[in-house]
Amino acid sequence: MQLEALTDETSTKSAGDNTRKVFVKTYGCQMNAYDSQRMADALGREGYERTDSPEDADLLLLNTCHIREKAAEKVYSELGRIRRLKEERAGQGREMLIGVAGCVAQAEGEEILRRAPIVDLVIGPQTYHRLPDAIARVRDGEKVVETDYAIEDKFENLPEPEKKAIAARGVTAFLTVQEGCDKFCTFCVVPYTRGSEMSRPVSQIVSEARRLVAGGVREITLLGQNVNAWHGEGDDGREWGLGELLRHLAGVDGLARLRYTTSHPRDMDDALIEAHRDLDKLMPYLHLPVQAGSDRILKAMNRRHTANDYLGLIDRIRAAQPGLALSGDFIVGFPGETEGDFEDTLALVEKVRYAQAFSFKYSPRPGTPGAERTDHVAEEVKSERLQRLQALLSQHQSEFAESCVGRDIDLLLEKPGRLPGQLVGRSPWLQPVIVDAMSSQIGDIIRVRITRTGANSLFADRI
Ligand code: SAH
Ligand code: SF4
Ligand code: F3S
Repeated sequence: MQLEALTDETSTKSAGDNTRKVFVKTYGCQMNAYDSQRMADALGREGYERTDSPEDADLLLLNTCHIREKAAEKVYSELGRIRRLKEERAGQGREMLIGVAGCVAQAEGEEILRRAPIVDLVIGPQTYHRLPDAIARVRDGEKVVETDYAIEDKFENLPEPEKKAIAARGVTAFLTVQEGCDKFCTFCVVPYTRGSEMSRPVSQIVSEARRLVAGGVREITLLGQNVNAWHGEGDDGREWGLGELLRHLAGVDGLARLRYTTSHPRDMDDALIEAHRDLDKLMPYLHLPVQAGSDRILKAMNRRHTANDYLGLIDRIRAAQPGLALSGDFIVGFPGETEGDFEDTLALVEKVRYAQAFSFKYSPRPGTPGAERTDHVAEEVKSERLQRLQALLSQHQSEFAESCVGRDIDLLLEKPGRLPGQLVGRSPWLQPVIVDAMSSQIGDIIRVRITRTGANSLFADRI
């Protein structure tokens, strides 16, 4: 092994066959996307180079999502395909190690080894700091399952990304500041897969933000399952919430833009609302899921707020930042949901007029209180409600996009567009915006006028 490691260091691209390669496939939310990068960085130190083709992989890592049944089952169909890949490689005398990380790993643990014996490693999101050690054990032939709820910081032993790796990823980046959830909505697996709420300390967050900026990042999105539940001791010795943290990060030299996601209505405090009022660097966009519009269903979901609490909150946020675009998540067909309850959801949507939204059919998750209920809504009813809700949401989304035409905005140029000579960035409201520009301008912020809407994007001209 030592010899191989030495070869890695001296190998050039053409001798790349000697390098160990890791393929990471990410499912689920942005937290998983962030974790995949941190894991790839850590594996880089163990001599693994990242590859985009699974058939070249010496180590194949699936970073999984357990939020709905479909998401969780995808893992097993993927593992079926991977079995054939592994067998092909074995035929060529090459080994392929298989790891399952993420929320399915945490929820199902050993069960994954039983259902898919080709898996060598199961590692839950709380234990990524043990990844280098786990990989070493797997390489020694052990089957490893790591699914403790660790009390240590999951990133403690993981190296921070190197400048080169950051630069390769582009000018926007995620930064996890908070993990886990104590809210226990009755439909949701997250409190079980991600453990209880934990906030990373200010010093760690600032140091990572500075590092990202030094690597060329201009926009950072702070991540957390309930990102606005973040709290910690501030530089001034006082207890800070997310609003104070954003205010502090806005002072990081070279950082042009800040975003954060996902927020819970109950944790939207005054300081955070004031941050939207005061900070130019904080983009006027807020993902604030409400899930349903009926108080009866909100109560059954254990959301611990009413539809009116939510609408009142939206009014306060819009008063502080009138230009803010809202986004939300919805579940239709939670057990016991009547046509009347569902109409309350439509009425709430009509009042808020979301710029963007995500909506799902309720999926019963093992171990959650919702799954125990006996009054499940029929699948056809769920489908029909989802269709009606999505029609309304997409109508509002198009209307919002249309309302952007003719407006002048600052656009951060992020990456090449589909056609040569085009670049794509995101509007302050997170829509993709396409503009003619040279690739040397990636990372620049330019002034543009939005000229028309496309299928899922906006077009703009430089002014
Ligand atoms: N922490 C975030 C949501 C995380 S999960 C919050 O509290 O808003 C992302 C979205 O998946 C949720 O907002 C919800 O709309 C959806 N979701 C979660 N569990 C689900 C389930 N069992 N069935 C269908 N959708 C679900
Ligand atoms: Fe899930 Fe609710 Fe926690 Fe969001 S707040 S992660 S929906 S339990
Ligand atoms: Fe899925 Fe886990 Fe994220 S269940 S949505 S990957 S927190």
